[in-house]
Amino acid sequence: MRSSCMFLQIMVILFITVTNIGAQTQPLTNKKLLRPFNNTISALFVFGDSTVDSGNNNYISTVIKCNFPPYGRDFLNHIPSGRFTNGRLVTDFAASYIGLKELVPPYLDPKLSLEELMTGVSFASAGSGFDPITAQLSGVIPLQKQLEYFKEYKRRLENAIVEERTKLLISKAAFLVSAGTNDFLVNYFSTQFRSKTYTVSAYQHFLLQHVQQFVQDLLAEGARLIGVVGVPPLGCLPVLITLNHHSPLQHRECIDSYSAVGKEYNWHLQNLLKIMRIHGTQLVYGDIYNSLNDMIQNPNHYGFDDVSSGCCGSGLFEAAIFCNPNSIVCNNASEYIFWDAVHPTQATYYNLFRSLRPIIDSVIKQ
Ligand SMILES: *[C@@H]1O[C@H](CO)[C@@H](O)[C@H](O)[C@H]1NC(C)=O
Ligand SMILES: *[C@@H]1O[C@H](CO)[C@@H](O)[C@H](O)[C@H]1NC(C)=O
Repeated sequence: MRSSCMFLQIMVILFITVTNIGAQTQPLTNKKLLRPFNNTISALFVFGDSTVDSGNNNYISTVIKCNFPPYGRDFLNHIPSGRFTNGRLVTDFAASYIGLKELVPPYLDPKLSLEELMTGVSFASAGSGFDPITAQLSGVIPLQKQLEYFKEYKRRLENAIVEERTKLLISKAAFLVSAGTNDFLVNYFSTQFRSKTYTVSAYQHFLLQHVQQFVQDLLAEGARLIGVVGVPPLGCLPVLITLNHHSPLQHRECIDSYSAVGKEYNWHLQNLLKIMRIHGTQLVYGDIYNSLNDMIQNPNHYGFDDVSSGCCGSGLFEAAIFCNPNSIVCNNASEYIFWDAVHPTQATYYNLFRSLRPIIDSVIKQ
């Protein structure tokens, strides 16, 4: 598994911001909010990496950016918003489903209205992870800093709508954390910072300690409903496949050894969240591993016909600046599981949202 580390390290630091999730496109013009029942979720607050970054990296100095075409090709007005895909993210579909709004904006956008702030924002930053070193490797916003931004957000809201209302809004909000892939792929498997001293198993537990701390920090800030998303089958990301097969053009099967690490981490994460549950709070595990795996194993069920390369460029290695206006792009991204060599298409994100919907339903009914 370590044979291609040097390669991976170089490529990854240049252009990876890895990660999660995915299902079938929805017309963006459809403004109807599909509110299935009268829920009381006030807002959605999002933390993590590129799977849930809606554009925060546009406002910081890093190479991990995508605010240029062909990113956003199937987004509202074809805008390259800073989402690492061709359209919307799972968090956008979820916010729409629970009746909040169509898109979850990035917190660092200086032009957000009070209403946008009050219904939820994303603090996520592509390239970030639970391990503080991971964000440093790409010069992006660490989770601890994302939490600081949330505290700043609270102060802004308290000034605008007073403290009591802010407290109430936060206690009725849903919090979502999606990270971990970069910790394994960009950090552990590509550099020596952690792999020198931690076994894979020890590193999994090291990450879980950070997850635990982050969840506790959110609870301390008043969060009552928190979802933590696991990692995808890591060995199925196109760039990983490219770097680990001797003839990656012919052989594009998932690398099971990488995926197994993710699966084991997910299992422990699920247990951790169970143990941490206390009265009056809901801690929910969001599985994307099995649904993404199902899309890869049964692409026909979902209208996919490419499961192992990205729609952008050769599909073998391009992401972020390597997927740019000069890249050749596939005709129909909905036939691809991956948009670039790392990130899912909007179609995949929609399928992932659908697979998570039963959990969302059970949570908002309570
Ligand atoms: C939701 O609330 C509205 C207004 O109170 C009510 O008219 C409607 O029937 C409710 N819908 C459901 C599914 O409970
Ligand atoms: C794009 O692909 C999807 C999924 O296979 C399919 O449903 C859709 O009809 C295609 N769109 C076009 C314009 O061919």
